[in-house]
Amino acid sequence: MTQDELKTLVGQAALQYVVPGDIVGVGTGSTVNKFIDALATMKGQIKGAVSSSGASTKRLKALGIAVFDCNEVAELSVYIDGADEIDDHGYMIKGGGAALTREKIVAAQSRQFVCIADESKLVPTLGKFPLPVEVIPMATQRLIRQFAKLGGSATVRLKDGQPLVTDNGQHILDVTGLQISDPLAFESQVNQWPGVVTVGVFAHQKAHVCLLGTASGVKTLKF
Ligand code: 5RP
Repeated sequence: MTQDELKTLVGQAALQYVVPGDIVGVGTGSTVNKFIDALATMKGQIKGAVSSSGASTKRLKALGIAVFDCNEVAELSVYIDGADEIDDHGYMIKGGGAALTREKIVAAQSRQFVCIADESKLVPTLGKFPLPVEVIPMATQRLIRQFAKLGGSATVRLKDGQPLVTDNGQHILDVTGLQISDPLAFESQVNQWPGVVTVGVFAHQKAHVCLLGTASGVKTLKF
């Protein structure tokens, strides 16, 4: 099976976690796009979605799924999202699509985080994928120096030759060279640095379930 087919498989499998009558939390990315397409088949059974990005909002609305603002809802039963890496504790690196801040907010508002990913995303230790960090632009150079002290090499993510601007009007650093052996401690540490909006380690907002697309079908990992 191709990677795209594996994404379709887990996107469809995630429907079993959607609670009829509820509002569902929706992440961002190519795997989530497959989930959104699948969700459209049961749109009559849900109230709608809370979205983690402009891109997902656009896709949801185009398929006729109502999108609610985070502030309009108290708690969500489930949040479905992809990951750039996930380990065997359900800790993840996210933010490849630059939506990490809103993803973390919606995840924090949800009782259950269901990660959908193809098997290439499962890793023993987080850090091979460049770690995305959303930052306030005036702190960029200072934060690059901070990451260098941890052995990381941080660069500003570009789009069309200019710093990429997130849905929140901020920039993204991508940090290579890190081996994140204690994701909970690492997330707490980087969260303390002035100018960091969101670090792309999702340890405090980890996945509870991962639907992993493998050559032999969907594997369910529970954490
Ligand atoms: C976006 C994310 C995505 O979930 C992550 O990048 C995985 O994306 P894809 O499903 O396209 O591989 O964190 O900010």
